[in-house]
Amino acid sequence: MDDLDRIAIGFQEAKILLAAAELRVFDLLKGEGASLPALLAKTGWDPRGARILLDALVAIGLLDKREGVYRNRPELEPRLLEEDPDHFSWMLRHRNLMFRKWASIEDRVRGVAPSEPRPQIGEAAANENFIRAMLSASGRTAPAVADAVPLEGVRTLADIGGGPGHYLDAFARRKPDLEPYLVDLPITLGVARKLLARSPAFERFRFVAWDAYAEPVPGVLPALDVAFLSQLVHSESPEANRGLFAKLAPRISPGGRIVVHENVLDPGRSSPRAAAVFAVNMLAMTPGGSTYTEAEIVSWGEDAGLERESGARLGERSYLVVLRKPR
Ligand SMILES: C[S@@+](CC[C@H](N)C(=O)[O-])C[C@H]1O[C@@H](n2cnc3c(N)ncnc32)[C@H](O)[C@@H]1O
Repeated sequence: MDDLDRIAIGFQEAKILLAAAELRVFDLLKGEGASLPALLAKTGWDPRGARILLDALVAIGLLDKREGVYRNRPELEPRLLEEDPDHFSWMLRHRNLMFRKWASIEDRVRGVAPSEPRPQIGEAAANENFIRAMLSASGRTAPAVADAVPLEGVRTLADIGGGPGHYLDAFARRKPDLEPYLVDLPITLGVARKLLARSPAFERFRFVAWDAYAEPVPGVLPALDVAFLSQLVHSESPEANRGLFAKLAPRISPGGRIVVHENVLDPGRSSPRAAAVFAVNMLAMTPGGSTYTEAEIVSWGEDAGLERESGARLGERSYLVVLRKPR
């Protein structure tokens, strides 16, 4: 197979894995595994569909099959079960939703508007997949990113669009006198409360519901020494982000900061590869989102009266832009 066709056909094996995750195949086979009749009795699945999918999973090396019994591969099972502490199966189900949306990206290029709103922030099950998928993407790297944010003299910090709260948790653990606010849509705060319940900092977290792009800044938020926005601005248009920064700026303390953590494009917009491809994800999943350059993010801050303090690439998908409000 030539390289072009390998790219073209890549979706098939991806979708076999995503369908299996959606159907909880790996949880159903946990431990002892199961024969096809036993699985059908448990699930009520269509016999033809189930047999074809399971055999394809064996063919691509994601399941074993011996004497008619399908089993998880022991080396893969821990990552594929729902109980995996890194939440990878939730990421797979989120990717399955992405797959649906990616199927019509050419229509977005032609200018045809998507027919349905963003399920990942509007429907409970899709939202929980999305929020837990964030833990799979950055649960382990969040503390290092949080460490790169200047916190000296900081008392109030709001993680806006904070999702599962893993960055806020890292900030709170690092600084015991911090007042940490988790700010997000109400549907996401419910998931975050569950996920953060075991944190030793839980009692200190303040949960604030705010649709940041549609509503004025809530009165309950105090003057902020840091507003931390991680992987939020890519889901909205430049105009919407300029509006958000303009709303936020008056709520930042003199000398305080807006810190943006993002998947940032280089100035030429075609690298890093992950940021350019992620922009297509925003084309598929959102009405106005994209990935942005540091200069674009800085311009939203400057228009709101903040100054660029620093910009640093921490990884291919991880870039920190620090904007400071003059004293
Ligand atoms: C890609 S996730 C990022 C989560 C987390 N900050 C991280 O870096 O992993 C985007 C987050 O923004 C939240 N969000 C999306 N639209 C929002 C809005 N209009 N107002 C507030 N939060 C929003 C979502 O609920 C989700 O938690």
